[in-house]
Amino acid sequence: MKIMAANSNLPLARAIAGYLEMPLVDAQVRRFADEEIFVEIHENVRGEDVFVVQSTSYPANDNLMELLICIDALKRASARRITAVVPYFGYARQDRKPGPRTPISAKLVANLITEAGADRVLAVDLHAGQIQGFFDIPTDNLFGAPVMAADIQARYGDQDLMVVSPDVGGVVRARALAKRLDNAPLAIVDKRRDRPGESEVMNIIGDVKNRHCIMIDDIIDSGGTLCNAAQSLLDEGAASVTAYITHGVLSGGAVARVDGSALKELVITDSIKPTDAAKDSDKIRILTIAPLIGEAVRRIADESSVSSLFD
Ligand code: R5P
Repeated sequence: MKIMAANSNLPLARAIAGYLEMPLVDAQVRRFADEEIFVEIHENVRGEDVFVVQSTSYPANDNLMELLICIDALKRASARRITAVVPYFGYARQDRKPGPRTPISAKLVANLITEAGADRVLAVDLHAGQIQGFFDIPTDNLFGAPVMAADIQARYGDQDLMVVSPDVGGVVRARALAKRLDNAPLAIVDKRRDRPGESEVMNIIGDVKNRHCIMIDDIIDSGGTLCNAAQSLLDEGAASVTAYITHGVLSGGAVARVDGSALKELVITDSIKPTDAAKDSDKIRILTIAPLIGEAVRRIADESSVSSLFD
């Protein structure tokens, strides 16, 4: 088995390789003068079970193209099996037609990864579980919940907790976390989004008064969803609001928005390489999911159970 990294999240790839006590494949993913991507693998991978680590985060198109070209290079170098390890799967939110004459880009990206030559995919907290079905190759969707639950127990376990889903679509994810937190009660924010990047809280379902609210979501992008929801929860009498989000997309002025928000703390994972602004923020803390991904990789290579990681 071998681990190869493209450029989007080298620290995570190195940490996964460190967990597995092996070096990264000696390879170079670089640009020609006109920005074309070129990949060169400097060691033999013939007959190997290779895992390529690449989040398709900002700049999404460049990082996706790097992943596709790495897969192509591995296929042409006769790797036995190629697994695309995509801790953050960009384009996942385009998983259905929101209106007439619009694309389903998540499906197109799934087709591209498959056509490039991937045999398997390993992702983390896909925006919607159904995206697994966009691939006609085996796709494992890992959950960040165990990593988050351990941190919540350690930091906030002695408080009167309430798990909150910031929108109706996230209820399954929130319920799974609540179950891990000794069946903590659940509240739901009824969010409306008329335009991308703008959201409005309509109602809060559940009594959050005097509760320490733990909001869980897959993505923080502009930060609008979380910051608006945090303020509404406090307006309803919540004692505090902390957010645990798997993918810190944090685009535009999101870090500043979080810094100025009513959130007590925002905890993200390293599925996307954190920017300096995110690392410097007093309100943002980063948990690593390298051991989780490393263990899943080990189990896939050994052909043992991945789902039992979440029992
Ligand atoms: C949407 O359904 C996702 O789960 C997130 O809630 C959303 O992408 C967050 O976006 P933003 O931070 O821009 O409000």
